[in-house]
Amino acid sequence: MADKNWLQTDDWKNEKHVPVIEAPDKVKKGEVFHVKVQVGKEISHPNTTAHHIKWMDLFFWPEGEKFPYEIGYMSFDAHGASVKGADTSTVYCDPYGVFAFKTDKPGKLMSTSYCNIHGLWKHEKKIEVK
Ligand SMILES: [Fe+2]
Repeated sequence: MADKNWLQTDDWKNEKHVPVIEAPDKVKKGEVFHVKVQVGKEISHPNTTAHHIKWMDLFFWPEGEKFPYEIGYMSFDAHGASVKGADTSTVYCDPYGVFAFKTDKPGKLMSTSYCNIHGLWKHEKKIEVK
């Protein structure tokens, strides 16, 4: 089994699993800013007990540093299941969230998401610091 595709990516406009990162291209040094991450921005991902997005995370890798830093993690735990069975509760999470952080250095935002059927997906975005 080839392992080159264990972390998949694609154009988020055509692929519903990509955790789309939306953040400013430039941020002010040391000033908190917001980063929105969303799976299914253009094409909705199924959200059922049997098939759903379980979690998303966000890392930031400052230029010149050896490793990225974890900014946060979001777990989505309501997918329609109840004591009556699968897809009976009408309560469903949406794979959407906003992180807030600050940095003095430019670098790369990196997000991964996990679909319980289709595995791990990633998206990246560079940010500059002024
Ligand atoms: Fe999926």
